[in-house]
Amino acid sequence: MAVNLKGRDLISLQDYSEEEIWQILKTAEYLKMLQKSGGKWRPLEGKTLGMLFTKPSTRTRVSFEVAIYQLGGYGLFLTGNELQLRRGEAIADTARVLSRYLDGLMIRTYDHDEVIDLAHYADIPIINGLTDLVHPTQVLADFFTLYEKKGHLRGLKLAYIGDGNNVTHSLMFGAAKVGIDLSVATPEGYEPNEEVVKVARRDAEESGASIELFHDPWEAVRGADAVYTDVWASMGQEEEHAERVKVFQPYQVNEELMAAAKGNALFLHCLPAHRGEEVTDEVIDGDQSVVFDEAENRLHVHKAILALLL
Ligand code: CP
Ligand code: NVA
Repeated sequence: MAVNLKGRDLISLQDYSEEEIWQILKTAEYLKMLQKSGGKWRPLEGKTLGMLFTKPSTRTRVSFEVAIYQLGGYGLFLTGNELQLRRGEAIADTARVLSRYLDGLMIRTYDHDEVIDLAHYADIPIINGLTDLVHPTQVLADFFTLYEKKGHLRGLKLAYIGDGNNVTHSLMFGAAKVGIDLSVATPEGYEPNEEVVKVARRDAEESGASIELFHDPWEAVRGADAVYTDVWASMGQEEEHAERVKVFQPYQVNEELMAAAKGNALFLHCLPAHRGEEVTDEVIDGDQSVVFDEAENRLHVHKAILALLL
């Protein structure tokens, strides 16, 4: 039975059930197949998606704009700098006003609470395109990529190596829901948010998944079906970059570390990558890497999200 997601926000995967996540992944599968066979579907004709960014973006911005266009709608790119928000207009008023013009709003910003506030005051679906806390649309595309390559999700072992950041948090929330066993290895002091760990582990109990934390990357990748990493300094942490490069060196995903996972393990990265830091050229350009399929799948997954929510 299909679940109805019309009108829903997508703020965090914590708010979505396994069935709802699968509804998005299955819709993405259909939309990708349709596009590859030259078919068109324009269910969002006449609808407008606002896309508000206060942080840079290549993939999220372009894939959402192309997604709404391919579904027959219009994407309106907005930057925090140009809106009256920058001059102090309240987020609540902004949300109420934008709700009168738009059919949905995707936002990428720093403070997660800002997105929660926006969703509280807006009457239209709010889609989180990344905050300091989570990156849910990314992880839906990651899961779609894993499903495409491995044929299933439940019981897969995914190892995440590096910083306990927004991507890690969404991987934890999502893996717990869909039954992926997730091993996270971070340096001491860079572990994922404790509250996120607690909630994800509670959900994992229901799905039968395991969420394990390590400081040793070798332990985390043992038996992994896929190895995932992300930048060592996220947007907003630029001034910590030099210090982090020293601390994170043992967490680089290189050929030696990949060899400690399963022989057919995939390599994933949300991108942008800092080649030579969290990943070597050999790994990201190697046979096991699926990072460009993963980036492409943002488009198919975003089309699914828009078609289902708007
Ligand atoms: N992975 C990702 O969100 O990329 P952008 O920052 O380019 O949108
Ligand atoms: N953790 C990274 C993800 C970029 C897509 C950041 O927040 O900069």
